Amino acid sequence: MSDAFFAPAAGGLRGSVTAPADKSISHRAALFGAMSSGTVRIAHYLHAQDTTSTLDAMRALGARVTVDRGEVVIEGVGLRGARAGASIDVGNAGTLMRLLPGWLAAHEGCAFELDGDASIRRRPVDRIAEPLGRMGAVIEATSGRFPPFVVRGRALQAITYVLPVASAQVKSCVLIAGLGADGETTVTEPAPSRDHTERMLTGAGAGIDRDGLDVRLRPVDALSAHDVVVPGDLSSAAFLIAAAVLVGGSRVVVRDVGVNWTRTGFLRILERMGGVVEGELESIPTAGAAVATGEPISDLAVAAGPLRGTAVEADEVPLAIDELPLVALLGCFADGETVVRGAQELRLKESDRIAGVVDGLRGLGAEIEATDDGFVVRGAAGRRLRGGALDARGDHRMAMLGAVAGLASGEGVRVVGMDAATVSYPGFERDLASLG
Ligand code: S3P
Repeated sequence: MSDAFFAPAAGGLRGSVTAPADKSISHRAALFGAMSSGTVRIAHYLHAQDTTSTLDAMRALGARVTVDRGEVVIEGVGLRGARAGASIDVGNAGTLMRLLPGWLAAHEGCAFELDGDASIRRRPVDRIAEPLGRMGAVIEATSGRFPPFVVRGRALQAITYVLPVASAQVKSCVLIAGLGADGETTVTEPAPSRDHTERMLTGAGAGIDRDGLDVRLRPVDALSAHDVVVPGDLSSAAFLIAAAVLVGGSRVVVRDVGVNWTRTGFLRILERMGGVVEGELESIPTAGAAVATGEPISDLAVAAGPLRGTAVEADEVPLAIDELPLVALLGCFADGETVVRGAQELRLKESDRIAGVVDGLRGLGAEIEATDDGFVVRGAAGRRLRGGALDARGDHRMAMLGAVAGLASGEGVRVVGMDAATVSYPGFERDLASLG
């Protein structure tokens, strides 16, 4: 485990950085490629720990996966062609752990075992076991809830499923299982969550309709994913954006960021707080790389500026779930109170992100309190965090949060376990240094 020190950035951050590839879309591109009949090329794939776990998993399931000048090439095994009996190590990747069983569940008579690292073993899978069980599959989880677990495939029945939590991972798992089921599957979300699965499966030939909060999917005989160029990851870009907003005198451009509305909640929250981000957020792509994934992309220009507190409510949470730790950090520098409610899901991420954010930022001098489902931060315009040490707790987003806090602090921040950032953004420290 390596530590790193982030000193206060004097004179502001300047320059431009290309956003690293989107983690959610990379996982899906690899999975849908392996589920397809034929070969797909994935350009700008995220080569990070989590998405490498996905490539390894696809290999273990029988897909031929090669990397050619950075591009990933996958020869799929087809909807029901995964290698029976495979043991899958998902590493730290919750998205892989929750999406993959949707595919495996349709392999009648086959069993697969999934396990991961210590953090994964604390993350519940009952949320996917329940709907998959209703469809006919059997999930045998440790203590009924946790990895390691076994997926026993069966002939699946379509279901109508009302999600108890707004989770794109659970929604995706049910939709993926629905591809191989015996009728039309409907998933109803309590609030919109990221819709990359719907966009990409539509591109791969699945029949999907959205009607308000309902997503309906008809089964297919075969999937044929297209070659894709993965857009930049808003969730990774958000750390650079927050740094630029908080470090006085900054002007930063982050290039090629995916700006799908279901991912840009953080930009809307930031705007309410008074932050200015310029980009083509409303544009729908009609040409170029983004068309293949059905995802809009934009360059985002950000400058430092004063902030005011805001309230984030439950319906906004899924649209900014991975950026909420940054909202807490921004709140420390904003005038007035910043409150996040309805975000109890944060406790089930790579670490308990409510406890980690509150303990971590308090240790740097913040006035912040945890609630059951979020946090309350009291900030003051013009006040900086003192600095100190922040423990990433093995969580990539916590490590990057500490780094950004360091740049905006009075005395700098030592991040304990900075190497966790390699899970989603291996080039983070280099990119940050290039702006300093
Ligand atoms: C993800 C969905 C979100 C998010 C995670 C990635 C996805 O999780 O926090 O980092 O790729 O579908 P939930 O679906 O559990 O909210």
